[in-house]
Amino acid sequence: MEWLAVPHRFSVRLATLTLMKIETRAVHAGRQIDPATGAVTPPIHLSTTFERDPSGDYPLGFSYSREGNPNRRMLEKCLADLEGGKESLVFASGLAVATAVIQGLEPGDHILAPDDVYWALRHVIEGVFGKWGLEAGYADMTNVAAVRSVLRPNTRLIWLETPSNPLMKITDLAAIASLARAESKAVTVCDATFATPVLLQPLDCGIDMVVHSLTKFISGHSDVVGGVLTTRYDNYLFERCRRSQQIGGAVPSPFDCWLTLRGIETLPWRVRAHGENAMRIAQFLQSHPAVETVHYPGLSEHPGHEIAARQMSGFGGMLSFQVQGDGERARAVVARCRLFIRATSLGGPHSFIEHRASVEGPRTRTPQNLLRLSVGLEHHEDLIADLRQALG
Ligand SMILES: Cc1ncc(COP(=O)(O)O)c(C=O)c1O
Repeated sequence: MEWLAVPHRFSVRLATLTLMKIETRAVHAGRQIDPATGAVTPPIHLSTTFERDPSGDYPLGFSYSREGNPNRRMLEKCLADLEGGKESLVFASGLAVATAVIQGLEPGDHILAPDDVYWALRHVIEGVFGKWGLEAGYADMTNVAAVRSVLRPNTRLIWLETPSNPLMKITDLAAIASLARAESKAVTVCDATFATPVLLQPLDCGIDMVVHSLTKFISGHSDVVGGVLTTRYDNYLFERCRRSQQIGGAVPSPFDCWLTLRGIETLPWRVRAHGENAMRIAQFLQSHPAVETVHYPGLSEHPGHEIAARQMSGFGGMLSFQVQGDGERARAVVARCRLFIRATSLGGPHSFIEHRASVEGPRTRTPQNLLRLSVGLEHHEDLIADLRQALG
């Protein structure tokens, strides 16, 4: 009998959970009332090892915490449910997920990634795997014809990211998924960290697997590092990632899983509030004379607005903008901020501002006058007042 299948009143009551709305599933999916104590909030299972029965089996499904842990299992079940996927694997960071996926490829395989892919993933592809005999190519994923023209017979992975970090480019997932199915043997993987499962369901668009950095909106409080891979169906790359998780061992701690699951309870409500604030800030920035361009898919002028409006149920809490002038001008705006915190990362309750090109280093493709905002949960009037005084 598997631990999470133990009959109890919670699972019976929630037999129809999959039919319910995301706000309900965010609170209930993957959880159960603790059968030992009746605790509504799950205990944190710190034990690294679990008892065998006299015949040598593990009747509750757990043997050793690297291979499986009750808190990790609850989180994986919840995330698979929110994503509408078959199964999820939780890792110790978002980049640990990407590393596991790429490790699952064979020497000689070709990876196709966005030309503005999250900069650290480019470092993984080139720096960590550069000597593994993988081939890597980059394409503008917003242009399906351009993607088709760089597909190769050995392309085995098409990595997507939408909205992209930090340029907020929008990829038409259904178009790329059908191209990949028709014209390649590649598995499609979408990093939907900026959107969260609340705003975007890549598997419904035909994408094979979805990745999130749990560090961001999903855990939601800037106090956990984690990542998740969710698959729509059984496939060889997911199975290799499972092996990489359980034997390679890049697993999160039970406490990190517990914190992430707790954060998910409020995810749909937080994401909505982040998005409302971001839209107001985008509109303010758009009309400010010191701002050259605003990159926010909620604005009708954004080149990906139509696709985003069709593909997503909201536009999210991330945006970037280019100031009039050079990198020095942009860094001066950051320096004058009082409420926006000068910090990297995103998706927490505090608003962050960052000069991305400085973070990404000399090989950056990000414009020097670009600033990225992670819009938090403060009142929008206070945030706008801070940006107004910082822009001068
Ligand atoms: C879009 C995106 N994907 C992946 C990652 C990596 O996640 P982690 O820092 O949890 O490894 C980040 C981190 O900023 C990100 O912004």
